[in-house]
Amino acid sequence: MVQQDSAAAVQAVTSVTTVLAVIGDPIRHSKSPIMHNAALQARGWDGIYTAFHVAPDRLAEAIHGIRALGIRGINVTIPHKERVMVYLDEVHESARMIGAVNTIVNDNNKLIGYNTDGLGYARSLREETAVDLSACNVLLVGAGGAARGLAYALLREGCGKLLIANRTLDRAEKIAQEMSSLGTIECIGIHDGIPAVEPAQVDVVINTTSVGMHPHTEESPIAEQWLKSHMIVSDIIYNPLETKLIHAAKAAGARTHGGLGMFVYQGAIAFELWTGEQAPIEVMRDAVLGAVSS
Ligand code: ATR
Repeated sequence: MVQQDSAAAVQAVTSVTTVLAVIGDPIRHSKSPIMHNAALQARGWDGIYTAFHVAPDRLAEAIHGIRALGIRGINVTIPHKERVMVYLDEVHESARMIGAVNTIVNDNNKLIGYNTDGLGYARSLREETAVDLSACNVLLVGAGGAARGLAYALLREGCGKLLIANRTLDRAEKIAQEMSSLGTIECIGIHDGIPAVEPAQVDVVINTTSVGMHPHTEESPIAEQWLKSHMIVSDIIYNPLETKLIHAAKAAGARTHGGLGMFVYQGAIAFELWTGEQAPIEVMRDAVLGAVSS
């Protein structure tokens, strides 16, 4: 059955097939080709999505190659997300505010860089929990690249107060300073998993750190006793699909939101930028779920 499907996909490729790809180093682990090819097929789009292993010293050549070969769209992953910006013709606000690009659109040889990570996260949170962010005080735990993307998107969505708690307070303050024009941001400390804020002041809690990710699945960035039933608790980690934080939040009676949606929706927004078609979310989610659980 699988063999028949891949044979059909190969036969469908012609001299006018649109080419999309992801570049990164390493790249073998990427689930993007499986997710996007499923989406292209579901929409009946004449396109193919592949993966290129691009070492850091070949990045400039790879980007020139996108223009030379007429590749329609590229996803960019570690370690190229920041450095790739200098090779583009235009950088959208979503990427400029974050300082990283994860999606490139080739518009008649003009390369435009976007960042769909934070926007994808916010759309996933909204669609999967039906939360009204404007009525919510949001606590972001962590202040790395992922937190920066989420802070941008949550503020753009018009969330209430944004609290950022990070082990290293300086990094949180830097984000707050850079994004102060987008909304109200406050930086707080966090010690032994207890953020320096009363739980009653927080409606949505989001982990953006790597704490709890495989293989450290016994760790959680937030102490269980701090979590309360009125909260929505979200973790951007999807390996494992249910982190210790999400497990503890469920035990506390809170609503939960896992990290798979962020990956699916960042891809969905990229798909929509490249094809102009609405992304088939459930097809994409099933494809990734199949890949992560196999
Ligand atoms: P990413 O781009 O994935 O966000 P990053 O920029 O390295 O990665 O940021 C990782 C985040 O996880 C940071 O907020 C980091 O805290 P520091 O800024 O204090 O380093 C946080 N983090 C990672 N490991 C952690 C740990 N063991 N405990 C608490 N925070 C941790």
